[in-house]
Amino acid sequence: MAQGIRNLLGLRELSLDEIVEILDTARSFREVLERPIKKVPTLQGTTVVNLFFESSTRTRISFELAERRLSADVVNFAASGSSVSKGETLKDTARNIEAMKTDVTVIRHSSTGAPHFLSRFLKSPVINAGDGINEHPTQGLLDMYTIREKFGELKGLNVCIVGDITHSRVARSNIFGLTKSGANVAVCGPKTLIPDYLQQLGVRVFYDIDAAIQWADVLNVLRIQMEREAGGDFPSIREYRLYWGINRSRLERIKKPVVIMHPGPINRGVELDADIADGDTSLILDQVTNGVAVRMAVLFLTGVKPS
Ligand code: CP
Repeated sequence: MAQGIRNLLGLRELSLDEIVEILDTARSFREVLERPIKKVPTLQGTTVVNLFFESSTRTRISFELAERRLSADVVNFAASGSSVSKGETLKDTARNIEAMKTDVTVIRHSSTGAPHFLSRFLKSPVINAGDGINEHPTQGLLDMYTIREKFGELKGLNVCIVGDITHSRVARSNIFGLTKSGANVAVCGPKTLIPDYLQQLGVRVFYDIDAAIQWADVLNVLRIQMEREAGGDFPSIREYRLYWGINRSRLERIKKPVVIMHPGPINRGVELDADIADGDTSLILDQVTNGVAVRMAVLFLTGVKPS
C-alpha cells in the first residue's frame, strides 16, 4: 500500500507483501494501544468520513477509535436522517461530502461493489468496511493478525471457517488473505450454505463438523445471517445448532486444543455456545482489540494526506 495502492477494496486485490506490510505495521500500532496516552499525531490535519449505510457496532466504533488514535478529524454519517431518505444517490452523497474537503472515505454498504463504485468517482482513498456478501477486508486482516499473534505464523496452520459461507463477506476476505499467506483453509457447514466455487480457491470443504474440528487448529465461527435469507437454507435454528453448533461436548471429544474465533455479533446458543465464546480458548475479544490497530495501519498505509 505504501508503494501506491490508494484504496482498500478487498484482500483479493492485495498482494501477500501488502498484507504482510499491514500486519507488521499493525503490530507497532498495537503497542500504542497499551500506552497510558493511546494517541499519535500521524493523521493530524486529515479528515476521515465514516459512511455507514448498514448497521455496525464493532467496525464503526473500531474505525472511529483508530482515526482518533491517529489524531484525525472524524465525521460519522448514518443513512437514516440524511438526504438519502429524500432519494439522494450514493454517488451524490459521497461526492458532496468529499467536496467539503474530506480526505478519506470508509464505507459500509449492503450492496456488493459499493466501495469499488465510489472509488471510480472520489479523488480521495476509499476503505471498504464491508460490502454486501463480497468482502470485509479489515475483518479478514484483524483475524489474520490475531491468528499470527497466537501461533507466530500463518503458514501451514489449519483454519476452518464454520457456518454460513454463502452470505459471508468475512469468509471471503479470510479465504483470500489466508490462502495467500500459506495457511490451509477449510470451510464447514450445511451444503446449502457453501458455494460451489470454493474448491477453485484452494479451500477444503467439510460437511461433518466433528471431522472439521479434528482437522483444525483454528475455528472461525460465523453468524447465521437471518437478514440475508440464510434462515431459508436449513430447516430450523434448533437443527442448525444440533448439527453445526460449536459446544463443549464437541470440543471435548477431540484430544487437541482448538482456538475459537468469531467476527461478531454472536448468536449465542446457535452457532456458538456462551461458555465456549467466553472460555479460555476464545480469541474473540482479542480480535476486537486488534481490529483498532489493524485499522490504524490501514489508514496510515493508504497514504491519507490532508487536502
Ligand atoms: N464484525 C463486524 O463487522 O461487526 P459489526 O457488524 O458490528 O461491525
